[in-house]
Amino acid sequence: MLVLGIHGSPRRGGNSEILLDLCLEAARQAGAETEKLRASRLDISGCRACGGCDETGECVLPDEMQRVYPLLDSAERIVLAAPIFFYSFPAQLKALIDRAQARWARRRLRHRQPGYRPAANRRGYVQLVGATRGRNLFQGAELSARYFYDALEMEYCGGQLVWRVDARGAIRQHPEELERARELGRRLVEQAYCS
Ligand SMILES: Cc1cc2nc3c(=O)[nH]c(=O)nc-3n(C[C@H](O)[C@H](O)[C@H](O)COP(=O)(O)O)c2cc1C
Repeated sequence: MLVLGIHGSPRRGGNSEILLDLCLEAARQAGAETEKLRASRLDISGCRACGGCDETGECVLPDEMQRVYPLLDSAERIVLAAPIFFYSFPAQLKALIDRAQARWARRRLRHRQPGYRPAANRRGYVQLVGATRGRNLFQGAELSARYFYDALEMEYCGGQLVWRVDARGAIRQHPEELERARELGRRLVEQAYCS
């Protein structure tokens, strides 16, 4: 099983990256193969809404997203790990998410084929961190994640939401969250966990 972790913070070694690394380490220990991408290190431009994918499901923009698509297609589990920026995902990760429009187009084309059935048991998760305590803090990002996974024909399964953590690495002072990250990595492999 391939577990793909996509890190969405421009801050290296920050809270979401610490959680993602623990999750992926636990997934490896549970027998999965893992791959990690850092959205802010990839040259991915925003979707241009050119319609180039409409009839093929393939994006025509020649940038590093072209090496992300095969990973999105082959992973059985994907974890989006990111901080909340203005109640949403950081722009670098949002660019990657928007480029899943090509997979949305492909999904539409496939669903027109009689008898088409998407691959079963593909699941997507989040690990989200924000500084404040607002009840709606994760609503925007979770909605984006849900429909990103829908475009990939994956089931959205929730994950780990962490309020009130701000400074770089402050998550280390929350051992219960570090353990929840490991638990997520174990469970998504062992039990096909879906919350
Ligand atoms: C540009 C920017 C926007 C942010 N917007 C929010 C926000 O809307 N709500 C919030 O609770 N925290 C917000 N934060 C705080 C981050 O979510 C918080 O510091 C988080 O722990 C960073 O995670 P990281 O270390 O993985 O980057 C923002 C931080 C930045 C830099």
